[in-house]
Amino acid sequence: MKTVIGFNGSPRVTGNTSRLVQAILAGAQAAGAKTRLVHLARLDMGGCTACMACRQQAACSQPDDMGRVVQDILHADAVVLGSPVYMWQVSGQTKMFMDRLYPLLNPDFSTRLVRRPRLALAFTQGHPDESFFWPGRRREAGRDAGACPRGRCRPGLRPCRRGLSRRDPGGPGSGRPG
Ligand SMILES: Cc1cc2nc3c(=O)[nH]c(=O)nc-3n(C[C@H](O)[C@H](O)[C@H](O)COP(=O)(O)O)c2cc1C
Repeated sequence: MKTVIGFNGSPRVTGNTSRLVQAILAGAQAAGAKTRLVHLARLDMGGCTACMACRQQAACSQPDDMGRVVQDILHADAVVLGSPVYMWQVSGQTKMFMDRLYPLLNPDFSTRLVRRPRLALAFTQGHPDESFFWPGRRREAGRDAGACPRGRCRPGLRPCRRGLSRRDPGGPGSGRPG
C-alpha cells in the first residue's frame, strides 16, 4: 500500500490550505493509499540552527518532532506540501519546515532520498490574480518594497515530471521557458 503524507503549513488547522491538502489526500485514499495529515503548527519544531550535523549524517541534531518527520518522508511514496501565501512567500511555518529538510540533501546538494517520493505543492492565497504567487514574484515584491534585488530569482522546488504540472511555470515576465 502506498503512503502519502500531507503537510499543512497554515496556522489554521481548518483553513483553506488544510482543506486543499485534505482534498488531495482524499483522492489518494480513494486510489488505495494510506494517508496522514500533519499540521506544521502543531509540531514541536524549531528553526534550523545551522549546526551542520546533517552534513555528516541524514539526521538532525535537534531532539524535536522533525527527526520522526524526516524518517517518515524518507519512507513515503508521496508528499503533499501545502502553504498559504504570506507576503508573496510561503508561511513562516512552511519555511521553517523546509529548512529543517536539509538532512535530505548531501553536502553537494544531491538528494539522500532513496525512493524519491512524488511531490504535490498546494498553495492558497487571498489575491484574486492566480499568477500573483510565483517564484519570480519574490524579486518583484522586494523591488516594489523599495529594495534593489540583484541576481536572478529561481524556483527552489519543481514538481517532478511524472507528478503535477504548474499552470504558470515561468510567471509573467520571467523570461523563463515553461
Ligand atoms: C500574514 C498573512 C499574509 C498574507 N499574504 C498574502 C499575500 O502575499 N498574497 C495573497 O494573495 N494572500 C495573502 N494572504 C492571504 C492568505 O494567503 C489566504 O487567506 C490563505 O487562503 C489563507 O490560508 P489558510 O486558510 O489555510 O490559513 C495573507 C494572509 C496572512 C494572514
